[in-house]
Amino acid sequence: ENHIVIMAGGIGSRLWPMSTPEYPKQFVDVIGCGKSLIQLTVERFLPLCPIQHMWVVTSERYTDIVKEQLPELPESQILAEPEARNTAPCIAYACWKIKKEHPHANIVVTPSDALVINTTEFARCIAMALNKTADSNAIVTLGIKPSRPETGYGYIAAKVYTDASGMCEVEAFKEKPDKETAQRYVKAGNFFWNAGIFVWNVETITTAIRDYAPQIAEVMDRLEQALFTKREHEELKRLFPMCEKISIDYAVMEQAENIFVVPAEFGWSDLGSWGALHTLLPQDHNGNAKVGTQIELHNCRNCMVHTTEEKRVVLEGLENYIVTERKGQLLVCRMSEEQRIKEFSTSKK
Ligand code: GDD
Ligand code: MG
Repeated sequence: ENHIVIMAGGIGSRLWPMSTPEYPKQFVDVIGCGKSLIQLTVERFLPLCPIQHMWVVTSERYTDIVKEQLPELPESQILAEPEARNTAPCIAYACWKIKKEHPHANIVVTPSDALVINTTEFARCIAMALNKTADSNAIVTLGIKPSRPETGYGYIAAKVYTDASGMCEVEAFKEKPDKETAQRYVKAGNFFWNAGIFVWNVETITTAIRDYAPQIAEVMDRLEQALFTKREHEELKRLFPMCEKISIDYAVMEQAENIFVVPAEFGWSDLGSWGALHTLLPQDHNGNAKVGTQIELHNCRNCMVHTTEEKRVVLEGLENYIVTERKGQLLVCRMSEEQRIKEFSTSKK
């Protein structure tokens, strides 16, 4: 029985002001297709799993947005964290819950803020992974061929190809290396970027968390009795904040054994930054990418222009700039300085 756990509690500060702590990017129509990233995520998994078996783990403050954007999702499957403790506690909570009702569940854990171009190929890769984990304790990841020494991703080192389907055994998992290490990895040739998607059965996940993040498992065991009862909310509020604040990548993936990787060629982007979005979107012959209905560019080159509002935007003579606006906040920033947007996103006044 397939279940999908969608992680949707991040704040996406590098995409400010489109993404704000009040309304982060997973709920925004980032590419201008009429759907938010979380809506696209759900849609992408529908060929593999009915919405009745999807779980969205998010912060308490976003549950109303989730209800509004995913009206078909049963409300009991919106899991609200009282406090963000990163992805390891997020996954643990969802899995302890699923295990109580569906002890044989086969699970895909996915971020809510990535973009996939070829959704048919995506479904094929996930189906292959699910097939592997249905009756084994393997952890299957999806590996993207790296195109630059990005330090914001996890890297997966594959052993030589092992099976006919192209699935490889994993030698090591390294989360967010420094620049030099990343350069070495990209050169080595057998490294993939981690897409942040993990396929494993519920037994494998809970065992891995017990083995490698015992403190979190302990908190979940204390919560277990209260799950699906009237006391759940209250107990969660009391216990969840005690969980170690750590990502699944550091807590489990770097330690775990029996990891596999499916080399994925479906067009993937993390959409973590304006630059990433600029690369992904169709560009005009001057290298400009725009999202918004009334954007007029004159003599502009390599600009990323984004507005989610009904507003006429006219730009003349700009090169290599990000121009974006949402809810009363306007950003004009050189593309080369985009790492600073995280810092700009918090007002200093
Ligand atoms: N519920 C919940 N609670 N969700 C969270 C939390 C939390 O505390 N923190 C993050 N998330 C969600 C985010 O909304 C996102 O959808 C997903 O979990 C991943 O978190 P990020 O914060 O975006 O992780 P990352 O981008 O730094 O790194 C991960 O993704 C990369 C690919 O995009 C890692 O898995 C890397 O290894 C990977 O390369
Ligand atoms: Mg991310």
